[in-house]
Formats: sequence, C-alpha cells, structure tokens
Amino acid sequence: MIVAIDGPAGAGKSTVARRLAGRLGYRYLDTGAMYRALTWLALVRGLPLADGGPLGELARENPIDIDEAGRVWIDATDVTAAIRQARIDRVVPVVARHPQVRSVMRERQHELAELGDAVIEGRDIGTVVAPDAEVKIYLTADSTVRAQRRTADRPEIGADALATDLRLRDESDAARMRPAEDAELIDTTQLDVDGVVARVEELVRERQLAAS
Ligand code: DC
Repeated sequence: MIVAIDGPAGAGKSTVARRLAGRLGYRYLDTGAMYRALTWLALVRGLPLADGGPLGELARENPIDIDEAGRVWIDATDVTAAIRQARIDRVVPVVARHPQVRSVMRERQHELAELGDAVIEGRDIGTVVAPDAEVKIYLTADSTVRAQRRTADRPEIGADALATDLRLRDESDAARMRPAEDAELIDTTQLDVDGVVARVEELVRERQLAAS
C-alpha cells in the first residue's frame, strides 16, 4: 500500500510521515530530500540553476539513494546534513521547478514506489507521482505556525528571515501545491503530531481492511 503525504513546508509532513512509516513497518520516502540532494550537487559543480537541461542531465547521471538508515546519498557523498542548510532551502524551488529535473525524479520515485508498502512525502505525490495511492493526505497549517516550526528546525536563522524564506518558497512551489481531489485534508495548526499520525493510521487501517 502507498500512503501519499503532500503539503507545504512546515505543515508537519516529515515528522508525521516518518513516524507513520515506523508504526506501519512501511518504507519512508522523502522526495523533497531528492530535490535537495540534486541542488547540493549542482551548487558543488557550479551549474547555473536557471538552466533545466544540464540539471536534468546531472540528475540522470547521479541517481540519489536513500539508505535503510534514511541517509541521503548522491555522487558517493552522504549529504544528509548538508541538504538541510538554509542555503539549500532558498534555492531548491528553483531547481525543482524544471520539467527536465522533475521527469527524472519522477521516474526514480515511481521505481521506489513500485517496491511496495511505503509512506511517500512531497508536493505532487497524490496528484502525479502516485495517483493510485490507496491513502492520500494533504497537510496544511497556518503560515505563522509553519514559520514557527521551521524556526525550531533552523535555530541558526532569525524568525523574520525564516518567515520571508517560507513565503518565497510557498510562492515558488505554488504551481505544484494542490491537493489531489481524493485527498483527505488535515489542518495541523492546532493538532499535535500524535493526533495527526493516529488519524492517518486509522485511514490506512480502514483501507487495509477494505482490501483484505
Ligand atoms: O519538503 P522539502 O522542503 O524538503 O522540499 C524541498 C523542495 O523540493 C521544495 O521547494 C519543494 C520541492 N519538492 C517538489 O517540488 N516536489 C516534491 N515531490 C517534493 C519536494
């Protein structure tokens, strides 16, 4: 079974998806980490980020791997920590926007989804990558709360700068940020992680029963 979890930055996707995968014994796939890893490599190689062709080739030549421990690899380098830096946050939407990049990423994400039971997190999972996912969730949250959550993730950056970064990222990601028609919308503004995980797990269990 595939569980798709989409939504904007700071809505709680990663925490919810990781914990849910643990509870269900499913694999966890963070597709944002794939775009981040490619962005990291493009910066190392000094490629212009506005040019989709070379970035698509870079993606094809350097498949991203996420190992059992959840560590992210590209070009034989463990980039797990490096891809969470603010300098990556700021430019990753520029890289993620190119159709040449997205088609390579989607191919890889399809392959990983084909392996079976997984919780997949991203922006376009329920709509494009896994439109047949048995469970589709779209998490949202008030923008102030999302910015506060990001502040906890990135203590080195000021709250104002983070709120601006988040707004700019929302604008850049907007084209891909829409819930699938059959997604369950969950507003996490007032909910704690356990509450969201419990709700999604309930949906998964219902689906598992219906399918058995
Ligand atoms: O979820 P995140 O912040 O790690 O995502 C990083 C960037 O990648 C973000 O700008 C949105 C983009 N992204 C995307 O376009 N499609 C996905 N499936 C996942 C992430």
